[in-house]
Amino acid sequence: MEKIKLPNRPVGPFPTVIAGVEVNGKANYVTVGACGVVSLDAVLYISLKSTHHSPKGIKENGYFSVNMPSADMAKITDYCGVVSGGDIDKSKLFTAFYDDLGKAPMIKECPMNILCNVINSIQLFGFEMFFGEIVAVYANEQCISEGKIDPLKVNPMIMMGTSYYDLGQVVGDLFKEGICKLAAD
Ligand SMILES: Cc1cc2nc3c(=O)[nH]c(=O)nc-3n(C[C@H](O)[C@H](O)[C@H](O)COP(=O)(O)O)c2cc1C
Repeated sequence: MEKIKLPNRPVGPFPTVIAGVEVNGKANYVTVGACGVVSLDAVLYISLKSTHHSPKGIKENGYFSVNMPSADMAKITDYCGVVSGGDIDKSKLFTAFYDDLGKAPMIKECPMNILCNVINSIQLFGFEMFFGEIVAVYANEQCISEGKIDPLKVNPMIMMGTSYYDLGQVVGDLFKEGICKLAAD
């Protein structure tokens, strides 16, 4: 099959999350695609443009939350990514809840919420990458099956190119498919 060379730009896929921060005592929410894991430790990173409103709150409190919107929240998620808390009050868009462990708002309407304590940050290309140790994880009761988060019930969004996509379907099991394949060969 022929390959077509494309411009050197990241196209995804990326997870679609909404980071929650508190800036000057007010909740603010920012849509983030640059979010991920670093190692097997309980640490996540988010990367935010330094000129955004949200980094101020992370520096102020040392905490941020990572909230996983489900696919039916595409509109409000996109809105959090096109208006700045510096211009428009985004604090009332969601019902916020807090954990005693850290001052960052989590979003009740999102089926999964992760509270992170900033342990490091680096500045790169006009962005600041915040590394946060996970200090609390919440999930809606109806998204838990047999004590574990059920991804299809959370139904998170993935961004790629210029669109959001939902999770779709299971196509294999981690650490099992490869073993099955090796056994079959
Ligand atoms: C789908 C999507 C993904 C985004 N991902 C990021 C990101 O990873 N990092 C970032 O700094 N901005 C990202 N943005 C842009 C910010 O969400 C946007 O500029 C927001 O208005 C900043 O809000 P704030 O000023 O209240 O912090 C994204 C926007 C959208 C719509």
